Amino acid sequence: MSKPKVFVARLIPEAGLDMVLAETDAEVWQEQLPPSREVILEKVADKDGLLSLLTDKVDGEVMDAAPNLKVISNYAVGFDNITVPDATARKIPVGNTPGVLTETTAEMAWSLLMSVARRIVEGDKYTRARQWKTWEPKLLLGRDLNESTLGLVGFGRIGQRMAKQAQGFDMKILYYDVYKNDEAAAEYGAEYCELDDLLKQADFVSMHTQLTDDTRHMIGTRQFEIMGPDTILINTSRGPVINEAELYTALKNETILAAGLDVTEVEPIADDSPLLELDNVVICPHIASASLRTRSKMATMAASNLLAGLKGEKLPNCVNPEVQE
Ligand code: DGY
Repeated sequence: MSKPKVFVARLIPEAGLDMVLAETDAEVWQEQLPPSREVILEKVADKDGLLSLLTDKVDGEVMDAAPNLKVISNYAVGFDNITVPDATARKIPVGNTPGVLTETTAEMAWSLLMSVARRIVEGDKYTRARQWKTWEPKLLLGRDLNESTLGLVGFGRIGQRMAKQAQGFDMKILYYDVYKNDEAAAEYGAEYCELDDLLKQADFVSMHTQLTDDTRHMIGTRQFEIMGPDTILINTSRGPVINEAELYTALKNETILAAGLDVTEVEPIADDSPLLELDNVVICPHIASASLRTRSKMATMAASNLLAGLKGEKLPNCVNPEVQE
């Protein structure tokens, strides 16, 4: 019997890729840059499965270009690149990779938070510029984590992990979410707060929300004014939850103190983005889940979802399970 045909939209770690190669007739996109829309439309035409990345827009048009498509497996926990209702309408299950990147992503949020709070990147630049002449009482003064307030916007898996770790820093922990979770809040010593209240009280605001129509641009000028000039904003979720033009103005005018971003509104960030000129922002290229171990786990999870979907079995992690019921 011939093997199912799949398109793997990028080279993923071997742990998952080998699983896919063993059981399918796979066409793997080998380039560093994502396949263009035209290429995706062409490649999926005769495929039974698609393993996509968050850089690949997968909507009804792509699904219609693939009449045999039985499964879409996204190599990410987020799935805002996929129009899930279009998949559901066509009875195509969509898989994602929840859980395995929780700790790694939270650790990146802390890395950014501490880098910004303690001015690590500025310190490194200063040293390399041969400006370090002596020990100075007021050189590169930063902010303490201890005895400060952490405001978590979004209290899902990653937000809760942040709260758990914040206890170790003796921080006061506030959270905002559309779903109140009293049990987790009690476990991690977090207190529920309305968003404006949280923004007012927190020294560090860390974003852990999904990107939806409701969360797009949920943080902009009004919210920066509430935060005030001592607040540090961290974003490891999705870029568009923050209005980036307004963030630039807030950072430039010191409406807020600083920011640490792992994600930007457009990725990659434009070469001429004014944010790149500011010292009070640290920007990383969407690497929050990028540890060797986690990216391998994501690969095996994405492969398992793909292979299950090809066999008509329930996906181990499915965002629209109703299509398989
Ligand atoms: C995700 O999985 O959604 C992250 O943004 C990338 O790992």
